[in-house]
Amino acid sequence: MNQTVIVIDFGGQYSRLIARKIRECSVYCEVVPWQEAEKAVLAKDPIGIVLSGGPASVYEEGAPTMPASLFARGIPVLGICYGCQLMVHLLGGSVKAAQADTAREYGRTLTRYDAGCPLFEGLPAEGISWMSHGDYAAALPDGFRISARTEHCPCAGIFDPKRRLYGLQFHPEVKHTENGREMIRQFLYKVCGAAGDWVIRDFCSRAVEDIRARVGDGRVLLALSGGVDSAVAAILLEKAVGNRLTCVYVDHGFMRKNESEEVVRTYSGRDLSFRKINAGERFLAQLQGVTDPEEKRRRIGREFIRVFSETAATLGRVEFLAQGTIYPDVIESGAAGGHTIKSHHNVGSLPADIGFEGILEPLRLLFKDEVRALGRELGLPEAIVGRQPFPGPGLAVRIVGEVTPEKLAMVREADAVFREECACGGLASSIDQYFAVLTDTKSVGVMGDERSYLYTAALRAVCTEDFMTADFARIPYEVLEAASRRIVNEVPGINRVVYDITSKPPATVEWE
Ligand code: XMP
Repeated sequence: MNQTVIVIDFGGQYSRLIARKIRECSVYCEVVPWQEAEKAVLAKDPIGIVLSGGPASVYEEGAPTMPASLFARGIPVLGICYGCQLMVHLLGGSVKAAQADTAREYGRTLTRYDAGCPLFEGLPAEGISWMSHGDYAAALPDGFRISARTEHCPCAGIFDPKRRLYGLQFHPEVKHTENGREMIRQFLYKVCGAAGDWVIRDFCSRAVEDIRARVGDGRVLLALSGGVDSAVAAILLEKAVGNRLTCVYVDHGFMRKNESEEVVRTYSGRDLSFRKINAGERFLAQLQGVTDPEEKRRRIGREFIRVFSETAATLGRVEFLAQGTIYPDVIESGAAGGHTIKSHHNVGSLPADIGFEGILEPLRLLFKDEVRALGRELGLPEAIVGRQPFPGPGLAVRIVGEVTPEKLAMVREADAVFREECACGGLASSIDQYFAVLTDTKSVGVMGDERSYLYTAALRAVCTEDFMTADFARIPYEVLEAASRRIVNEVPGINRVVYDITSKPPATVEWE
């Protein structure tokens, strides 16, 4: 049994990120909602507790809270932002709303640290920290000392060494905080006495046990997309339930060159039942005459659910639907209250109401790079583990305007050439996503002695941390030149190639 740290989630946007940073320090970590704090602490016997940030104010009525008795159990606690304020509030100090220009701080803030606090021992005495707070600790509870300060916030860090209670007003889990990861590590190793006994392999055995416990002798159906998330979910499920798992791969006909073959190769000959449904014609028929990007996405999503449900109906009794949902998908759906920029189609988000007893989402807590690490651990081929993100609707949203078989052939070939050239140019690991788009613009060219009037392909390559924002990649001209020359020569129907030099925002990564 691994040592465990519990993150109590008070609704902060970074709660899972804290968990991930802790796991990166080789310590197992679980996030629990604040309502379940006490139950989780009693059940898990953690070596440390981290209180997350959150949007509320501790002095508001109904604000998220926890029993103060949890501070008296001798377990080290690290309160971050709201978590720090809550600790102060519950232990008899006072928290106030900052007046304008006093202790309210947002963004990068110069912070001074006291090396006498184990969190900062051996680290630079000052650095940038990431602040995001309107409240501050105005009076500390008995036994607490200040461990970090900023110009406007005298209590940027506090601690009570006797009780091993620590508070940070800033966010050490965010990459903008210099040495933030080290601070978390020091909390784990110097304060909590972590042994560093967790590796991603342990996640695998836990997940397999959990799946077995839930599924019993039931059957499971998983939709495969060809992407890394559903692939890793498939292998975990296979380990857990073997051939009681059926994987369905709906080939909508919008996959990239050789991709479907790769998917089939990966799953054939395994201890699971695999079905490929060739639905290319059905999807193409749905898109006939449709040019609006959102309408294209809607129709593809709808058709996908139809095909999937029809297939499920032929399988007899299947109790569980499994999905490759990963944590960023959860964030995106949680944030879905805002404007719809694009309706994402994702096999991880099939509707739950297509007649299953339960939904299994074994990767729900993981970030993409953790899923990749797990995939490698499970022996998946690099072509799948290292695969770039690819939109659910596939090449259909990389053809501006109506999708036709001819245009599909053009974009598929142009994309393959561009990806090959990027790989040859050694760019594959430094660019996060790169692909070709077929625009609906035709232009005049001259090929041989002949006038041509053909389509324009756009090349897109971006560098990004999280795909929420992205910068266009500064690709060497030689790579662009080679790709352009080959596309115009090798892909009938295209006589011009342009490179997209727009970042996100204001553009998005995909064109539709
Ligand atoms: P945008 O175009 O919104 O893309 O800047 C951000 C990232 O999301 C991918 N993407 C999708 N992924 N289903 C997915 O699973 C979709 O419908 C979808 N649309 C865009 C896109 O490739 C980029 O990585």
